Amino acid sequence: MGKGTVLVTGGAGYIGSHTVRVLARSGFSPVVFDNLSSGWRQALAPDVPLVVADLSDRAALRQAITQHRPQAVIHFAAFIEAGESMREPARFWDNNVRNTWNLLEELRAADVRRIVFSSSAGVYGQPDVVPIAEDAPQHPVNTYGLTKHIVEAMLGDYDRAYGLRSIALRYFNACGADPAGDIGEAHPAKTHLVELTMLAALGLRPEIGVFGTDYPTPDGTAVRDYVHVLDLARAHVLALTALEQGAATTAYNVGLGRGFSVQQVIEAVERVAGRPVPRRLAQRREGDPAELVADARRIQQELGWQAEFTDLDAILATAWRWHSGHPAGFAGAGWERELA
Ligand SMILES: NC(=O)c1ccc[n+]([C@@H]2O[C@H](COP(=O)([O-])OP(=O)(O)OC[C@H]3O[C@@H](n4cnc5c(N)ncnc54)[C@H](O)[C@@H]3O)[C@@H](O)[C@H]2O)c1
Repeated sequence: MGKGTVLVTGGAGYIGSHTVRVLARSGFSPVVFDNLSSGWRQALAPDVPLVVADLSDRAALRQAITQHRPQAVIHFAAFIEAGESMREPARFWDNNVRNTWNLLEELRAADVRRIVFSSSAGVYGQPDVVPIAEDAPQHPVNTYGLTKHIVEAMLGDYDRAYGLRSIALRYFNACGADPAGDIGEAHPAKTHLVELTMLAALGLRPEIGVFGTDYPTPDGTAVRDYVHVLDLARAHVLALTALEQGAATTAYNVGLGRGFSVQQVIEAVERVAGRPVPRRLAQRREGDPAELVADARRIQQELGWQAEFTDLDAILATAWRWHSGHPAGFAGAGWERELA
């Protein structure tokens, strides 16, 4: 027996496509709604329904909901780059807030009452205490984090007034790829450390920039919490199931609860790739905290989530399989045959 249809906005993107795969394996029927602005049709199995449309298009949203009658939604679609959000805040208010509002209004009209939302560690800004628990103060330091914070507030209102229950998952740094090696990170704008370091290891970039070597961390470089994308995907399935069983609206951190420095990540990439990665040491970037590590005990205790990938080299080995097999990402050779 199937577990029902789930509308997945942004399901052709990096985290979305892995989650779609895990949903299907878990017995759900995912339907993807994506404008393919940074996602890839090739990241989805041919039997996954894909609606290519923009969340600003209310009629397209209504049509997708009427046609597929989802019991729940997972909402990944958003702009994701913090630096860009400071240069072009209007685009972020539009896509991350206004378009989410469109979605919530269409869900309200169609009486869909469950949603899992991609939030971010960016809601916390510069933490006073690390590891960061869910009740830590939220002072986002960029417009991206602020848009996630605002959407969480909107979700609170939509539950209180309209009965739309939600779980916001505050991801720390997503990384890795399905060990099958056929899908992985392929962001058109490259800003993530792991993807950039892999491309440098492949010789497709001259070097990797290390921003800040004088942080109060053991080796002076910034420390982040790297969580495998399949572990994130499983958190969504658990969240959906909890909502199904009546869970109240809440937010959870999703991270390993352990930090690795930029230097450690680069050294681990060198080990899994078996080749050196040239580094360029640079100044700290404004707003980059020294250390962001999740206190992820609540999702473990309340949803039974456990990371299966806990070893940094093992996590990065899955990413290396993807990048070394598809150096040009989904745009590279090899896909034409499968698309034909
Ligand atoms: N990657 C991370 O480390 C990370 C960390 C914290 C939070 N998040 C959040 O997770 C979510 C997914 O991130 P990702 O890394 O998979 O990014 P991604 O860019 O790969 O995926 C986003 C997807 O949404 C689609 N999309 C964007 N705007 C749309 C619109 N208006 N209409 C329809 N589709 C639209 C894109 O085409 C893309 O497929 C985002 O909400 C992001 O803010 C990501």
